[in-house]
Amino acid sequence: LKWCPNSDLQAQRRLARTTFATKAQAINKTLHAAPTSVESFSSIQDERRERAERSVLISCPPKINERKILDYLSKHGDIRNYFFYQTYGMYAVVEFSSKESIAALKGSCTIPSVQHEASVPFKSRLLSLKWTGSIGPTTVKCHEQLPISINELIQQLSEQESIDQQMQCLTEAYQLTEENISLRFLVCSLLRDIAAAYFPESIIRPFGSTVNSFGKLGCDLDMFLDLDGVSVQNQRKGSGLSLEYQVKRGASERNVTQSILSVIGECVDQFSPGCVGVQKILNARVPLVRFSHQPSGFQCDLTANNRVAMKSTELLYVYGSLDARVRYLVFTVRCWARVHGITSGIPGAWITNFSLTVLVLFFLQQRTPAVLPTLDQLRDLAGPSDKCVIEENDCTIVSDLSKIKLQGNTDTLEKLLQEFFEFYGSFAFNRSSINIRKGREQNKPEAAALYIQNPFETSLNVSKNVNATQLERFVALCRESAWLLQQGEVLKRSATPSADQIPPWGLAALLLPSVAESAGVKGRRKKKREPASERIKTLLQSLKSSRGGAG
Ligand code: GTP
Ligand code: MG
Repeated sequence: LKWCPNSDLQAQRRLARTTFATKAQAINKTLHAAPTSVESFSSIQDERRERAERSVLISCPPKINERKILDYLSKHGDIRNYFFYQTYGMYAVVEFSSKESIAALKGSCTIPSVQHEASVPFKSRLLSLKWTGSIGPTTVKCHEQLPISINELIQQLSEQESIDQQMQCLTEAYQLTEENISLRFLVCSLLRDIAAAYFPESIIRPFGSTVNSFGKLGCDLDMFLDLDGVSVQNQRKGSGLSLEYQVKRGASERNVTQSILSVIGECVDQFSPGCVGVQKILNARVPLVRFSHQPSGFQCDLTANNRVAMKSTELLYVYGSLDARVRYLVFTVRCWARVHGITSGIPGAWITNFSLTVLVLFFLQQRTPAVLPTLDQLRDLAGPSDKCVIEENDCTIVSDLSKIKLQGNTDTLEKLLQEFFEFYGSFAFNRSSINIRKGREQNKPEAAALYIQNPFETSLNVSKNVNATQLERFVALCRESAWLLQQGEVLKRSATPSADQIPPWGLAALLLPSVAESAGVKGRRKKKREPASERIKTLLQSLKSSRGGAG
C-alpha cells in the first residue's frame, strides 16, 4: 500500500481482503520468489528520514475541512503528501516538497500568549491549527494507527479459505502502514531538532520493529541518537599545523552516553511539546530515556551509541525481505505468543519479540531445503563497502540482496506453522543453544533456561532473562498448538455461508482467548490455568456444537 494523498487505507485493506481468494494463487507463486533487486536497508531509511525533515505535524480542530487546510498550507509551498489521523484529537502529517517551505510556514506561526502561565518559546515542527472562520463540511478521512481488536482479527481470519490465507490476512491487518512509519520517522526528526541544538550533525534513527519489517501497529518506537557524523576526522593538510576541539572527557564511553542522554532527556522533558512522562533510565545495560509522545500515541525509547542494535534490526529486515513467508510466519507466531501470554508488554522473564523472531529464523534455517541462509553465509556474500565492525564484533552482512541465492524450499505456510510448533515442542532446550550465525544448534555454553546466541555479540545470550517456567509454558503451548493443527475439526472451515459468523477454525482457533491462559496480565494473575487437555476438549466441543448449530 503506497502512501498517497487521499488514499482510504481502510477501503484498500477491505479490498485487499475480499480479493484474497482470487489473489491466493498469484501470491503463492510469488511467495518463495528469490529477491531480485531490493533497495538496501540504509537507502530506504535515508529516504524516509529526508521526507520527515520536510514534514510538519499539525494538531487540527475536531471538525475541519481538508481542502481549506491544504489551500491554506500550500501558500507556503508545494505539498507532496499528507494524511490525517486521530489520537488525542485530530492531527495532520504534511510533507512539503522542500525544506524552504517549512521555514516559510514557521515564519507565519506565532507563539501563543497564555494567561496566568508562561510558554517555552521553542519553535518546533509540532504546530496547532487555529480556526476562527466557519467550519464548513467535515471531509477528512482518518488513517488508523492502531491494530484491530483480537476478536475482530479472529473473525476476519475465520472468513479466509486456508491457513496460508489466514497468516497473510493476519500480517496485513497488523503490519505497520506507510503512514504509521512516516509518522514514526517524523517523531524521530522532531526529536533530532532538540539534539541538533548541541550536536548539529547528529541523527536520530529508529530501530527495532519500526524498521525491521516485523512491526505491529501500536508497537513502541525505539530510537537511537547517532553521533557518528559528529566525530568524522578531517584530512590534515601538509602545513604541519592542525586544530582540534577542546572537549570534556568522561571515564568511559558509557559515562559519556549517560551524560548526553541525561541532557537530551532533560531538554525533551522541558522544551519538547507533546513529550510527557519522561523517565531517564541511565543505569540500564543500555542507558535510555523513555517517554510518551502524545500527538502520535507512541511509547518512545531513546538510546545512544547503540549501533549493534541497529545492525540486528538490519539483519531482521534482510531476513524478512528474502522470502515473503518469513514475515507471515513471524507475525503469526508473535501474535500467537502474545494472546497466550508467552510475550508481554512488561519487561520480565518472558520471551521477547526479538528472541521469538530469532527462534523463527533459526527454525527456517533448519528446513530441508533451508528457507533462509545462515548469518555466516550473509557475511560471506558481503562486498568491501558492507564491512562493519562494532566494538570488535564483526557485524558484516551483505546489503545487495540480489546476491543471495535461496535453496528453493516451497513449503506452504500451513506446513511451516505446523512444523514450527512441532520443532520447538520437542527441541532439546536443556542442552542445546540456538545459533543463527552457524544455522545449527550447539551445546549450551552456560546454564540458562533458553540460550539464543546474540547474532553479533556472540558471547551474549539474547534470552538470558527467560526463566524455566516461561520456557516450559512456551514448549507446552507449542505442543498443544501442534496437536490442535493435527485435528481435523480445527482444520475444517465451516461450509455455512448463511451463518452470520463463521466459527473460528485453523489459525483463528489457535488464537482463541479461551485456549489462551489469558489475553492480559490482569487475567494471568487471577486465572489459574486449566489442564491443556481440558481446554482442548472444550475448544473441540465448541467447534463441533457451533458447526452443528449452524446447520
Ligand atoms: P517490539 O516488541 O515490537 O517492540 O519488538 P522490537 O524488535 O522493537 O523489540 P524491542 O523494542 O524489545 O528491542 C528493539 C531492538 O533492540 C530489537 O529489534 C533488537 O534489534 C534489539 N534488541 C532487543 N533485545 C535485545 C537483546 O536482548 N539483545 C540484542 N542484541 N538486541 C536486542
Ligand atoms: Mg520495539
